[in-house]
Amino acid sequence: MGIDKLDQLYEQHLMTVRRRADLALAATGFDTLVIHSGIAPLQFLDDQSYPFKVSPHFSAWLPVNASPRCILVYNSGHKPTLLFYQPDDYWHKTAPLPRAPWTAHMQIIPFLDPKQVSVHWSTLGRVALIGADHTFDELHGTLNPPNLLTRLHFDRAIKTPYEVECMRRANTLGAQGHRAALAAFRRGASEYIAHMEYLLACNQREEEMPYNNIVAFNEHAAVLHYQHLARNAPTHSNSFLIDAGAQYRGYAADITRTYAARGGAFADLIAGLDIVQLKLCGEVTSGRDYRDIHLSAHRLLGDLMYDSGLIKIPGQAALEQGITSVFFPHGIGHLLGLQVHDVGGVLADVEGKEHQRPKGHPYLRLTRMLEPGVVVTIEPGIYFIDSLLATARTDARGEQINWTFVEELRPYGGIRIEDNVVATASVPENLTRDAFSKLDAQTA
Ligand code: GLY
Ligand code: MN
Ligand code: MN
Repeated sequence: MGIDKLDQLYEQHLMTVRRRADLALAATGFDTLVIHSGIAPLQFLDDQSYPFKVSPHFSAWLPVNASPRCILVYNSGHKPTLLFYQPDDYWHKTAPLPRAPWTAHMQIIPFLDPKQVSVHWSTLGRVALIGADHTFDELHGTLNPPNLLTRLHFDRAIKTPYEVECMRRANTLGAQGHRAALAAFRRGASEYIAHMEYLLACNQREEEMPYNNIVAFNEHAAVLHYQHLARNAPTHSNSFLIDAGAQYRGYAADITRTYAARGGAFADLIAGLDIVQLKLCGEVTSGRDYRDIHLSAHRLLGDLMYDSGLIKIPGQAALEQGITSVFFPHGIGHLLGLQVHDVGGVLADVEGKEHQRPKGHPYLRLTRMLEPGVVVTIEPGIYFIDSLLATARTDARGEQINWTFVEELRPYGGIRIEDNVVATASVPENLTRDAFSKLDAQTA
């Protein structure tokens, strides 16, 4: 098997993960980390399980994402051991021992019986167990010590070059899916078919996606996390919002695009929002407070809505009067990594101090300072959400909104454009735009 760039980067990644673990263990009084990969929980009164979702603490160490009941043991300063579960099970296919190049950096021990696995770390000092509470029945140690978890979560925001490369590749897959779903929309297919073609183009099954695809035609685009897939195409097509990612070695892409069925005011608003979104991506610079990007988004979106005639006051005033929040009620984005909303977004330091959200912005998931290696999403939107509009209509904000234009745009649901951006020491790297550009260059 050839060594590709990722395998070389993995070695350096593991050294970083180990160094972070060494510091966190020493600071919190532990010697050993024992990390469970997780189990697939059973459905109520049934022998069927829910899909297996690997613990991100486990997959931060190694690219094993589909193997329940495995255990990573890291005794500070020593080569990690992977205890690889290989049950004697003729109902399911037992995973073979991993043989990829990364395995050179671990000791790998297969085991048959979870009840006997503890022999492998009985002499490893003070043990911190990391995993869901039902996964460690047979094992002894301190379960999920909060101060240790906080340190690990804080550090995970800064991605290693290996992790960024995984996300580059996840974006490439996602871009392929987005192009396939757009083609389905353009030929009049249903939400369901657009979703299925998305999966096919990514070569990933639904449960491998980092989150449920949001495939929303017309008014459905006003539902921020629209979860259905209509089996029939609408009789009249206005718009298409697709928020769908992909994963590579467990690392997520989280990409949204919005399309108009034809030219007109909604298509113009998409074009305006695209310009705003690119400006905001340019703000993902080292040393920048992410909360300021969120507030900048409100100002820019407010100005766009003012210029297009949707509201009657410009961005700064619209932000101050809570009018932009009627149309843009979520945060400008979040950390991205092994989890689509990656952990540690509000942490100010390794001790667990937090950066507060700006007053009146309860849904902002990221309040940290940016630094090189932090990967975030930038996802501004303008939506026509009935419940928020109804409330605004009854208070002082109602006078500042052009209700005739709102009525015209309601059948289009809303717009969101979302890219994945890496903060660097200089110009931000836009993983998503780069992936689309490369794909389009190949297919031109
Ligand atoms: N796809 C979920 C999000 O954009 O946060
Ligand atoms: Mn998204
Ligand atoms: Mn997102």
